[in-house]
Amino acid sequence: MAGMIGVMATPIIAPSILAADFTRLDREIAAIPDADWIHVDIMDGHFVPNLSFGPDVTAAVNRITDKPLDVHLMIENPGKWVDHYIKAGADCIIFHVEAVNNPVALADEIRAKGVKVGFSLRPGTPIEPYLLHLEHFDEVLIMSVEPGFGGQSFMPEQLDKVRTLRAVIDENNLDVLIEIDGGISAETIAQAAEAGCDAFVAGSAVYGAEDPNAAVRELRALATL
Ligand code: DX5
Ligand code: ZN
Repeated sequence: MAGMIGVMATPIIAPSILAADFTRLDREIAAIPDADWIHVDIMDGHFVPNLSFGPDVTAAVNRITDKPLDVHLMIENPGKWVDHYIKAGADCIIFHVEAVNNPVALADEIRAKGVKVGFSLRPGTPIEPYLLHLEHFDEVLIMSVEPGFGGQSFMPEQLDKVRTLRAVIDENNLDVLIEIDGGISAETIAQAAEAGCDAFVAGSAVYGAEDPNAAVRELRALATL
């Protein structure tokens, strides 16, 4: 619904399984029936100083849920891994612009393979150089923490990028979702929604809660303007 001025779609809540208990991923995913997407954080120990999991775990997750997999590649040379994550069941592949030379070429390649594509930015990376190329993307993932670890504090100044994107997307009636990732909780989600986000990743706020599904519903309610 991006671009329909005055009409707000229901906020998309995308729990990150990075914060789930890896010994029981089936139960952890079954515990969030009201989630819209599953956010899958891939870290290679090079692009970011942490290591998570790869295509095999992603494929295992895909076998136990019908929800779309939003795969966030925090890796060097993401183009080399695209086919592996498509095969694993990714519905949207998000790569970091800092990790590629030609984001538009990679985006076009991913789309041509029949999956959605997004780009992400580290907090220190400006959005302006990418504003002219938004039509090549389905999603923009704004990092509101330094990528690499869950459980960090939200960086409110990153919402300036969201406001800039919201204005450009609406002015040009583009079909691009704005997603935010890092430190999203009951305390921070409303300001991200007000700035113009459509989709919200939440790791610790969902899996750190006593009732993860209630946390999903609460986050969605707080993001509904
Ligand atoms: C950080 C990851 C995030 C992370 C979010 O590098 O991209 O998706 O899991 O975790 P919280 O919600 O705990 O900040
Ligand atoms: Zn992420």
